[in-house]
Amino acid sequence: MSSSSLKDYKNKLNLLEKYNKFYYQDQKPIVSDKEFDKLKREILELEKKHGFDDTKSPSTKIGYKPSKKFQKFKHKVKMLSLSNAFNQEDLINFQKKNINFLALDKNYEFEYSAEPKIDGISASLNYKNGKLIRGLSRGDGEEGEDITENLKTIRDIPLNVSHPDFPEEIDIRGEVFIETDDFKKIEKDFANPRNAASGSLRQKDPNKTKLIPLKFIAYTFGFTSDMKSKNQSDFIKDLDKWNFKTSELNKTIKGVDNLVKYHFDIEKRRFDLKYDIDGIVYKVNDFSLQKRLGFMATAPRWAVAHKFSANYSVTKIIDIDIQVGRTGALTPVAKVKPVNIGGVMVSNATLHNEDEIIRKDIRIGDTVKIERAGDVIPHVISVDKNLRNSNIKKFTFPKKCPCGYDTIKEFNEVTKKIDAVRRCPDVGFDCNRIAKEKLKHFVSKDALNIEGLGKKVIEKFWDLKFIKLPNDIFNLNFEKISKLEGWGSQSAENLKNSINKSKKLKLDRFIYSLGIRHIGQENAKLISEFLGNYSNFIKLKDQKNIEDLSNIDGIGGTQITSLKNFFKNNLNLKVISSLSKILFIEKNITKKKGGVFSNKILMFTGKLNNISRAEAKSIVENNGGKIVSNVSKKLDYLITGEKPTSRKVKMANDLKVKILNQTDFEKISKLRQ
Ligand code: IVH
Repeated sequence: MSSSSLKDYKNKLNLLEKYNKFYYQDQKPIVSDKEFDKLKREILELEKKHGFDDTKSPSTKIGYKPSKKFQKFKHKVKMLSLSNAFNQEDLINFQKKNINFLALDKNYEFEYSAEPKIDGISASLNYKNGKLIRGLSRGDGEEGEDITENLKTIRDIPLNVSHPDFPEEIDIRGEVFIETDDFKKIEKDFANPRNAASGSLRQKDPNKTKLIPLKFIAYTFGFTSDMKSKNQSDFIKDLDKWNFKTSELNKTIKGVDNLVKYHFDIEKRRFDLKYDIDGIVYKVNDFSLQKRLGFMATAPRWAVAHKFSANYSVTKIIDIDIQVGRTGALTPVAKVKPVNIGGVMVSNATLHNEDEIIRKDIRIGDTVKIERAGDVIPHVISVDKNLRNSNIKKFTFPKKCPCGYDTIKEFNEVTKKIDAVRRCPDVGFDCNRIAKEKLKHFVSKDALNIEGLGKKVIEKFWDLKFIKLPNDIFNLNFEKISKLEGWGSQSAENLKNSINKSKKLKLDRFIYSLGIRHIGQENAKLISEFLGNYSNFIKLKDQKNIEDLSNIDGIGGTQITSLKNFFKNNLNLKVISSLSKILFIEKNITKKKGGVFSNKILMFTGKLNNISRAEAKSIVENNGGKIVSNVSKKLDYLITGEKPTSRKVKMANDLKVKILNQTDFEKISKLRQ
């Protein structure tokens, strides 16, 4: 690939963007249709030839930023994504976790609804009294775009449903896609069928949508006023009855072995199907079990997407780099001779960890097979040892972090195995590599969201020794910055403003911004809702308060250990304390959840029968309650299981706290009549 063809490609993209803007935004085309089409063709040809890829490319959209023009509406029930599984082991773990959560016998066999994972665009169709009222795109999962008129042009979507069983109100959800044969007719304009469907669906003019033959397959529901079916496979039958199209490949299956067989079967036939699928979705069939299993942060516990293996290519390893991540993990990355895999140029591939290098005996200079699956980072699958030069040496994984610390391998409490990942043990800002990554995390979009302070700028400021700790960002010398190459007084001023703007933030963002291991966005939210304000958060430095957080549904031993380590580190405490003087950390306003335990504080003691602690936590929180681990006057209920701690029961009695046994608890939470 020459840099001049890349330059040519970028220039063409900019020109196309300009034409588009005049055409779509200002409705005043400045070139003829013919000239416009010629430019588009040239761009697509360059992409095909060199594997170029750009978000501005016409292969990823039609028109000029169509998404901004649609009105947004909240989904009544969030549109979530699915967790992924790549092999049998992942499926066994998925099943095991659910068995533990439901406290079922370890040999329990779930019945699953197995459904093809259609690679299109999901949509939610709201029907009231049998009439299609509104159709929304997924959007960010909470809020979607109103694309009703475009959806109405799809013949598979019934505008009216008159069946007597059809609920008074229901959101029917499914996938909008384009069939492979239809795609062939327009393939010169798009990178793949999914992009074609997405572009067409988000056209402002429904007549343009009509030009591309879209299809719709239904597979689930969001809000519903009534649900007669007891399981997913019956619901699919209902969908058929109500005149929605469903997949002919849907099937109920028991046992992980049979899931794998079905996956293999369909994968073989994958390219003979009428539409693109990228895996199989398995859903626990029984709705009552689905309800008990509930949801994690972004996906249901009761479903998983078993992906198909992806595109691959063969290339050579030029070098192996060791990257140190924000949480100290040493990740080996193979620098490879660039190859085009499924339309994307790949020059880096992860080697995951030390064990993986040993297991596959990967060496610099080896010829390797690389896989790229969707948005997952490309990785090395295998080494062709026949092509190995006899003089190349085994790769020795460094035992020290580049910062000088000896690395460690941790014991994983969940798997009861030594971790495959080697880590730098620093939990603060001593290790330069970790500290730099923490800074990038601190300013990132979901943390302080400081515009103009991207990864490259952080690298530069770091090298110039302008910053080392997060609080240094608020003491930058803008005079100096304005004199740097590529900067000026205006850009320095802009940065100053965006840094100032970032000073006011909610507690959950603050907690997330600290980059504590195992405390991602969702856990930061859970902790901030539980603690309420910053002064409770800072009390965690007394260690003993950290244990309380294990009462939150979603927070377990791993997170607690990580928080303890974080708060043991003096530099971390200094950073937090100086940040607290600079920032305005606001409370998170939490929506009060209704339910039988609304605003009530509960505590458990003793072993519960047939129900895991994880499920008990989830029941209490879904019913508006909060769990604590100490008996105090504030406690509303002490729930006793088998062999409760007598000291706790006595204290509760003395404080006149209401004591309930497991049966009472289950009756109140309506688990039992
Ligand atoms: S169920 C809460 N079933 O996969 C679970 N999703 O990564 C909601 N998809 O956004 C999804 N085929 O667009 C479900 N049979 C199927 C599906 C399916 C495709 C897509 C859907 C969703 C994505 C999740």
